[in-house]
Amino acid sequence: MKFQPFLEKATDEETAQARAAVDEVLSAYGRIGRDLILPLLHAVQDACGWIPEEAMKYMSERNKVPFSDIYGVATFYELLSTNREGKHFIRVCDDVSCFLGGSSDILAVLEEELGIKRGETTKDGMFTIKVMPCLGVCEKAPAMLIDQEVHGNLTCETAREWVRRMWYADSAQ
Ligand code: FES
Repeated sequence: MKFQPFLEKATDEETAQARAAVDEVLSAYGRIGRDLILPLLHAVQDACGWIPEEAMKYMSERNKVPFSDIYGVATFYELLSTNREGKHFIRVCDDVSCFLGGSSDILAVLEEELGIKRGETTKDGMFTIKVMPCLGVCEKAPAMLIDQEVHGNLTCETAREWVRRMWYADSAQ
């Protein structure tokens, strides 16, 4: 399980959106149950863009499933996020080809460059880093996605360079 600390509180608007999403799923299914944990988490992420702690507490209360179980599922899947995501979303592939090509070193460089760990967002809200399974571009391993753009045949230097370019481009605006 990846560790994702709770760094942020939901806004009142996000809390209302999350509650409405939970109510809608439970009403659509017409029941409660552990098997609804994933549909509930996806619904909240779709509604808010992330899954706040408050939403998981509400899910636990409404769906009668312990908070720890919901948190466990939410932090197990890389596609779910318990932190608000940054303006730029970096997905580093750590599947076989990329791993053999040095994805761990690339991740370490990005974490150092941005001062965050995988699953976290920079304080200025600019970047989120996540580790993902195969991105479907193994011929370009090691690879990462920044937003929707593929960057392949990475080295530690080019990975750092891409992030710096994004940062400078945004700062210049
Ligand atoms: S293993 Fe990384 S893109 Fe396929």
